[in-house]
Amino acid sequence: SGIDLDRVAGLIRSVPDYPTPGVLFRDITPVLADGEAFAVVATELAALAGEADLVVGVEARGFLLGGAVALVAGVGTVPVRKAGKLPVVAATRTYDLEYGTATLELAADTVAPGTRVYVVDDVLATGGTAAAACALLTDVGAEVVGFGALLELPALGGRSKLGDVRVDALLNG
Ligand code: PRP
Ligand code: HPA
Repeated sequence: SGIDLDRVAGLIRSVPDYPTPGVLFRDITPVLADGEAFAVVATELAALAGEADLVVGVEARGFLLGGAVALVAGVGTVPVRKAGKLPVVAATRTYDLEYGTATLELAADTVAPGTRVYVVDDVLATGGTAAAACALLTDVGAEVVGFGALLELPALGGRSKLGDVRVDALLNG
């Protein structure tokens, strides 16, 4: 409900000049640390996941959120990981971040072609991470039914990088 999400918004901490000067970093970890807020967020994102067969969470805070969303939705979860963490890789994508560049990877034999996937992360900022995660899934023949974030920073324009993937955000900041 609206009241619940207002309370969730109040738990997000804004940290100036982290991790680099000029970035106002939104720290969502206090939301996850609050059982009621965590449940509200997981439940709302699970509802938005709809008929997805699988929830993918993006390293690292996306793992916490994605796992919870998957459990509520009654489906499994697969991690999209930063480069070098997976022994056998099916797909790799490099992208620009608000504060640097990064590479994401998807493990081999985790997502079958045709799987309907809902991708989850904590924050949608410039959209590079979300776009790379969705691209990994289409690389292996999955269907991305949507991308869901706890918080979208609309000023950074990330939504435009997602093409025709539906983007859900519980909060805007
Ligand atoms: C943050 C956040 C998203 C991404 C959003 O993760 O959790 O994954 O950045 O930024 P973008 O929309 O500009 O791509 P970060 O790369 O800091 O990694 P972490 O969760 O492992 O700390
Ligand atoms: N918070 C968390 N992750 C992020 C942010 C932020 O403000 N900006 C880019 N990724």
